[in-house]
Amino acid sequence: MAVVNPSSLFTKALSGGYAIGAFNVNNMEIVQGIMLAARQEESPVILQVSAGARTYAGPAYIRKLIEAAVEENPEIPIVLHLDHGQNFEICKECIDNGFTSVMIDGSHLPFEENISLTKRVVEYAKEKGVFVEAELGQLAGIEEDVQAEHSVFTDPAQAKEFVERTGCNSLAIAIGTSHGAYKFSGEPKLDFERLEQIIALLPNFPLVLHGASSVPKTFVEEANTYGGNIGDATGIPEEFLRKAATTNICKINIDTDIRLAMTASIRKYLAEHPQEFDPRSYLKPARQAVFSMVAHKMRDVLGSSHTI
Ligand code: G3H
Ligand code: 13P
Ligand code: ZN
Repeated sequence: MAVVNPSSLFTKALSGGYAIGAFNVNNMEIVQGIMLAARQEESPVILQVSAGARTYAGPAYIRKLIEAAVEENPEIPIVLHLDHGQNFEICKECIDNGFTSVMIDGSHLPFEENISLTKRVVEYAKEKGVFVEAELGQLAGIEEDVQAEHSVFTDPAQAKEFVERTGCNSLAIAIGTSHGAYKFSGEPKLDFERLEQIIALLPNFPLVLHGASSVPKTFVEEANTYGGNIGDATGIPEEFLRKAATTNICKINIDTDIRLAMTASIRKYLAEHPQEFDPRSYLKPARQAVFSMVAHKMRDVLGSSHTI
């Protein structure tokens, strides 16, 4: 009973035409909500931990929460993944502490520097049997600076060269998604043509989509109804994600939707129960909201239900 390396899960996802959800975890209720969904949907799952999550909860608490998830769900393949590792040291620390997968994010660096940093992590991870996700191209910027759109998207030829030279196990690409709740100021759009070009040059290679929350209107409206001010939030339409999941995109990252689901639920609960002050009273429906959202993603968007 242990966390697993995602390699064989991705091989299966590639041939099966589905993607595995990578959900960001920060506390117990989030881990529990995701695991309830994975169990109901009989889906593998990637629990990913950002540097911010490690700072918030503490690395030991995070590790122990994942350990509990594994113990409670022996039948579910669970990957423990470092999200957006910014340097060699954090990747090494996670590799040395039981992570089965790490992301080295050198996407902000010049091409050659991204290659050498990624290579260094790959060499270390390989010895320990740990999977390495790298990134080429930059996510942010499309809504603020249309001019930058093409220069930051992943170049297909560079992607091929990058994968060959680094030996990374999967690649996060930029085709129009972005992090957070405000992804588009106009019409949502993903560059599927570019995705196809990347796939043609890297056949059978696992690709990753970051910034893939869909920012459901119901969560935004619920949060705003009960005192929030989330504004004009827009995510990736779920039909885009469904389409992406049938291609070589085999890992789809979701964090913002978890935040929205929990916050909307907590705002509603507290507004309707102003006398309540037991944290369990509002964290319980919040955990349930995470469960429902994640189960829906697995079943209707990622297509990973019943693939164990
Ligand atoms: O891509 C970033 C994830 O949403 C994690 O966010 O760094 O605030 O934990 P965080
Ligand atoms: P969202 O902000 O769209 O949920 O993206 C999360 C992500 O990419 C984590 O790495
Ligand atoms: Zn990301």
